[in-house]
Amino acid sequence: MTTSSIPPARPFHYPRPKAPLHCGKVSLQALARRYGTPLYVYSADQILERLQLFQQAFAGREHLVCYAVKANSALAILKLLADHGAGFDIVSGGELQRVLAVAPQAAERVVFSGVGKTIPEIDLALNAGILQFNVESEGELELLAERARKLKRKARFALRVNPDVFAETHPYISTGLREHKFGIDIRKALGIYRSVAGNRWLQPHGISVHIGSQIRSSEPFGSAVARVHKLVRQLEREGIPLKVVDAGGGLGIDYHAGHFDAAAKVAEYAEAISAALQGYNGRLLLEPGRFLVAQAGALVGRVLHTKRNGSKTFVIADAAMNDLIRPALYQAHHEIVPVSPRPGKKHVVDVVGPVCESGDFFARDRELPPLRAGDLIALLDAGAYGMAQSSNYNTRLRPAEVLVQGGKARLIRRRETIADLLAPEQITAQ
Ligand code: LLP
Repeated sequence: MTTSSIPPARPFHYPRPKAPLHCGKVSLQALARRYGTPLYVYSADQILERLQLFQQAFAGREHLVCYAVKANSALAILKLLADHGAGFDIVSGGELQRVLAVAPQAAERVVFSGVGKTIPEIDLALNAGILQFNVESEGELELLAERARKLKRKARFALRVNPDVFAETHPYISTGLREHKFGIDIRKALGIYRSVAGNRWLQPHGISVHIGSQIRSSEPFGSAVARVHKLVRQLEREGIPLKVVDAGGGLGIDYHAGHFDAAAKVAEYAEAISAALQGYNGRLLLEPGRFLVAQAGALVGRVLHTKRNGSKTFVIADAAMNDLIRPALYQAHHEIVPVSPRPGKKHVVDVVGPVCESGDFFARDRELPPLRAGDLIALLDAGAYGMAQSSNYNTRLRPAEVLVQGGKARLIRRRETIADLLAPEQITAQ
């Protein structure tokens, strides 16, 4: 990719020749000067645009887009989405607390997924009156019934079924095969719905499926939902009508430089799901995470040094694997561009961070425009599973985060301080 041709799937662009990289109307150079680096920068406009693409693609049927909070749980982003009608897919009590902190009224738009819910988490969600528990085992369903009885609050549940559908993606983020820990074997689901049909504390409310993440083809989504639809019809015949089909998340993006038509992608995805749901008139839930926020975000870092070791050239940035672990964990590709490109020919380099691990790299043997110490770089498509998976490894302070909307940028999370990190610790026995 030439530095002047970032595909329009991203909000990052060079507005004029020789101008620095911008997010919308805001210069990343100015943001880095003001807030320091490493710095996460997100475009609120793009997040809303993506939400609307989803909402429009499914406008033909009753639906709710439940944003997967795990992708990026910044309060300001949750608030933005809640204000525009999104619901939320959560996987912990902590994520529920985040949603409740910004939009208590959104509790009724929350689905609770996850393979291991604890009693305090279940109780919190029951008391908040969430829309639906996506239950992943018989043991969990029993526990849910017990807590519902205790709290005298009827629990609306869906079984998360494992449809045994293969979807091409990285093995760590594929979930829809029988050998994975997720969901309940679809062949057992009918029996389980039957067995709790008379329970006064459990309401069979829906059925859910999620086959994995960063799935580029729409076909496996269609296959999984078709299997679920078959079960819905079977249940209906048995007098167990369900109100909701939750098709999960997982729609992938293009992390490479190529052209990516987000609108066409969502339309194709919606088409595959709708085709599988012909004749179903209930409510449809969707749980996109990455698709809404990944391309809206960049991680901005500064080059500390460049050096040669043997035949290799290393560009050492102040951002590291603790800030964005995707390359190390999933061999993920993130485009890297200079914020203020210099003239000159490209070089093949490794872009690495300062953490003491050989796995601390952002790119290997990548051809990049010339970079020197002091230059700013932007790692693109870092809005999803970037900050959300960050850590304090090497006692590094996690980055600040900025949200850009229109021509305005605002700090939505300050950089951590060493005092933040040391606060929970005790040096001597008390
Ligand atoms: N619903 C459920 C039940 C999920 O487990 C997930 C993601 C989603 C929805 C949202 O999936 P999305 O639309 O974002 O693909 N850390 C990995 C991705 C892990 C995804 C886990 N589950 C990465 O950086 O690629």
